[in-house]
Amino acid sequence: MKYLITTALAYTNGPLHLGHARSTYIPADIMTRYLKLKGEDVIHVGGTDNHGVPITLTAEKEGVTPEDIVEKYHNEIKHDLDSLNVVFDSFGRTHSDIHIKTAQEFYKKLRENGYIYEKEIEQFYCPKCDRFLADRYVEGTCPFCDGEARGDHCEVCGRHLEPTELIDPYCVHCNAKPEIRKTTHYFFKLSALNSDLEEYIKSSEEMPEHVKNLALRWIEELHDWDISRDIKWGVPIPENPNQVMYVWLEAPIGYISFTKQLGDVWKEYWLKNYENLRFSNPVGYENQRFSNPVGKENEEDVKIYHFIGKDITVHHSVFWPGMILANGDYNLPSSVISGGYLTLEGRKMSTSKKWVVWVKDFVENFESDYLRYFLMINAPLNRDSDFSWDEFQKRINTELIDIIGNFIHRTLVFTQRKFKEVPIADKESLKEEDKALLMKCEETLTNVDKNIRSYNFKDALMNIIHLAKEGNTYFQSMEPWTIKDETRLKEVLYTCCTVVKYILYLLYPFMPKKTLEILDLMGEEVDLELRGKKLKKPKVIFKKVEDEDIKKMKEKLMASKEPKTDGKNKGKNKTKKSNGEKMELIGIDYFDNLDLRVAQILEAEDIPKSKKLLKLIVDIGDEKRQVVAGIKGHYEPEELVGKKIVLVCNLKPAKLCGVESQGMVLAAGDDVVALLTPDKDVPVGSKIC
Ligand code: 2FM
Ligand code: ZN
Repeated sequence: MKYLITTALAYTNGPLHLGHARSTYIPADIMTRYLKLKGEDVIHVGGTDNHGVPITLTAEKEGVTPEDIVEKYHNEIKHDLDSLNVVFDSFGRTHSDIHIKTAQEFYKKLRENGYIYEKEIEQFYCPKCDRFLADRYVEGTCPFCDGEARGDHCEVCGRHLEPTELIDPYCVHCNAKPEIRKTTHYFFKLSALNSDLEEYIKSSEEMPEHVKNLALRWIEELHDWDISRDIKWGVPIPENPNQVMYVWLEAPIGYISFTKQLGDVWKEYWLKNYENLRFSNPVGYENQRFSNPVGKENEEDVKIYHFIGKDITVHHSVFWPGMILANGDYNLPSSVISGGYLTLEGRKMSTSKKWVVWVKDFVENFESDYLRYFLMINAPLNRDSDFSWDEFQKRINTELIDIIGNFIHRTLVFTQRKFKEVPIADKESLKEEDKALLMKCEETLTNVDKNIRSYNFKDALMNIIHLAKEGNTYFQSMEPWTIKDETRLKEVLYTCCTVVKYILYLLYPFMPKKTLEILDLMGEEVDLELRGKKLKKPKVIFKKVEDEDIKKMKEKLMASKEPKTDGKNKGKNKTKKSNGEKMELIGIDYFDNLDLRVAQILEAEDIPKSKKLLKLIVDIGDEKRQVVAGIKGHYEPEELVGKKIVLVCNLKPAKLCGVESQGMVLAAGDDVVALLTPDKDVPVGSKIC
């Protein structure tokens, strides 16, 4: 059996953070290392995703070329992965000759097979910039919630939008109002693959159930895919160099392109029925290694596993297999392993709000192996999980160090003091309790194997911890410090050292750096044999995570983040609902930054274009303000006039539905919305403190 493990290709518009490490790269590396350890034929292929509008936007913002951005972040991303000891057999980039050629050939085959057609569609076009505005090049107001929307996505309510639905759209380059023009795009006939995809998903034995369910729900309503874009940056459509392929069409082909970087061996992993093909037609492949001349009819001999983050599950379980089926030449993935989201201290991670821990900052302060351990033990991979600095410290110190570290350390210290080397005992003469513990080692081996192969990394680590606990109990009950008989002492320490060896072997895929350091002290390899080598003087390998280091990281996180009011509520006229999301405590000085005042409504009128908004003129004591409030349907404009309300006076002015708002009216409630008003009659302009 051959295994091809791939990891999602990271966009080159930023470095990696802990979320990427947890959902995708660490689990894939553990799987790869484990299978290699077992002597399997396995390769890990990955790289970066260099096309797509966000990259050109970053380049434009920074006044550099997209190539510069790609170069910078490709290197940073690779550096982050190296620092986590995530190893690749091939690591490529989509902005490369090999990828562009492979993607274009793949596309041509789709076309030949009748899966591509052309259709005229309407697109925004900026008359000032003289170009079509693809995806996120156009921003405006969401027709559903009046929030800020970028192209096809509302940043506030999260809805998917057709860009032409946007209210008051503007070009992000020049702010001009775009017009709608006709253009011809290329479409991929995904809808024609409905039954083939259904059969593929249903018959996939290894695909996790939640991935299958999601894919089957999507397959019910498959639309054809608009796969061309009127921009320059990307893989040109072969028959129309003025357009490039939609990034989600070409990026996954990177898995093939980057395997090709390894040479002709790529065919063994990707070409459908390659073994049979070679056997029946060896002429075309005379340069191949001829390891198995007997074609293995009807036997799947390659497994492709895609490790990805949960947000791109449908791309890998529906769109990509659809492309492979339509192309016809390649092997389908055996499994798509999607890692859940990682929140940070109970809140959604956000790079724009600087609520994030970058891989680089983590490894500058702590062992990368501690991260690998924590992210895998903290929750099962397919569930969402939270990273909290306190929890991280607790788990490392009281679990990894107190249980596993302690057993290894006490065994090596004691053995080194007594014998200077690992004693090798005669297995036959071992006592029942020794044999019982060695049996536990074998059981753990079986359980960890089962768990890793079914992507249950947390359970595999729990199995290892359990073995270390058994080791500690044995050590304690044997009281080796009281044993006078040297033969018996050797047997006991041989048993303990064997357990250490099993733990290190099984822990190696999770913590490669630390386990190798310990094996080096023992003069050992990563295997299950004990060689009885000289023991180096043990040193503390697992150092505790100190309080002051955790404090430093927490302070850094708090200092870097933007104030909450600048974030999600942007463009909204209500206070944020408490939706169960944990909020951090604030100091009084934070509150002092708010200018909240009692205001009186002088005028109120409807904004006809909007479903939710009313325009108000309010008096705040020393001036009059125009504000837009999301209370339509909850109050009639007439009943508002004269009401005293609470206004956030120092909010940056914003345009909602094309109407300027110079402040925010405070209101509460969801279904029933109520304005906040002072309980007694206080002068207009009174400060709220
Ligand atoms: O979501 C992402 O980060 C994409 N760059 C992943 C692409 S994976 C593959 F299909 F190329
Ligand atoms: Zn423009």
